[in-house]
Amino acid sequence: MSDIATNSFGGKWALITGASSGLGLEFADILAAQKVNLVLAARRREPMEKLASDLRSKYGVDVLVEAINLAAPGAASRLKSSLDARSVTIDILVNNAGFGLHGDFLDTPIEQTANMIQLNITTLTELTHLFGRDMAQRRSGHILLIASLLAFQAVPSYAAYAATKAYVLAFGEALHDELRSHGVVVTSLCPGHTATGFDAAAGATASSLLRLLTMKPRPVAASGIRALMQGKATVIAGLSNKMAAFSNRLTPRSMQRATMKRIMDT
Ligand SMILES: NC(=O)c1ccc[n+]([C@@H]2O[C@H](COP(=O)([O-])OP(=O)(O)OC[C@H]3O[C@@H](n4cnc5c(N)ncnc54)[C@H](OP(=O)(O)O)[C@@H]3O)[C@@H](O)[C@H]2O)c1
Repeated sequence: MSDIATNSFGGKWALITGASSGLGLEFADILAAQKVNLVLAARRREPMEKLASDLRSKYGVDVLVEAINLAAPGAASRLKSSLDARSVTIDILVNNAGFGLHGDFLDTPIEQTANMIQLNITTLTELTHLFGRDMAQRRSGHILLIASLLAFQAVPSYAAYAATKAYVLAFGEALHDELRSHGVVVTSLCPGHTATGFDAAAGATASSLLRLLTMKPRPVAASGIRALMQGKATVIAGLSNKMAAFSNRLTPRSMQRATMKRIMDT
């Protein structure tokens, strides 16, 4: 069964960051199935080369691999220059690369937190600016930003990570309105807990309550691409995650934090 009902993306080029693992693999497969040519970007070359080769033979699309540390200052413009040099025009940007840091803020080396902010916020913003300007000039383009359910409230034990995702969501929703008149769609996807490499990278073990709420990455990625194609501002993946975000509207912020702490710890 196809994940996506319509196909207006065929023949275009998509840049997917964080395409070596988790949600990135699914975004790549879903878009390639729609005959979208791909640029895969992350640090680990090997899994991306394997994915590229699988997608080329499965769907007959072009796939380029860019092994790059997107948390390094200037990485976004280096990636853009590399694609310009190859005359690759990006029609769809999937700003997916990101990681979390679990634990007490003061016990986490500040360099790790700064590195996360650089990737989750600065590089995401720079990529959106670089590719968004090109898209606006062509009056056509799609940008998917991967925020999180944690963007909706403060989260003790994920203090800085949740704050980076609050930035992504606020940034994405504002750009949805700003760029509409330029012919560019900006959609923010908010996944809840999803079975990917996220926990390992964050140094976290999912609590038993969180494990009950965990989604598989395929439907999460599919909901993001579907919302992007439909021109939506925001999508929350999955019904229970939608209900969790909605319940925030009815509860005081102190209670939201207490609830998140219970979900993370129990
Ligand atoms: N899984 C969840 O529960 C969840 C929930 C909400 C939001 N999200 C968000 O979803 C997005 C995808 O994460 P995921 O769940 O799929 O986790 P994942 O399996 O750990 O994938 C993260 C991806 O980001 C890439 N990445 C990390 N650091 C990078 C760097 N310095 N430079 C370039 N690429 C880098 C990784 O590639 P390399 O290691 O090869 O560089 C990997 O491809 C993230 O933005 C995450 O915050 C995840």
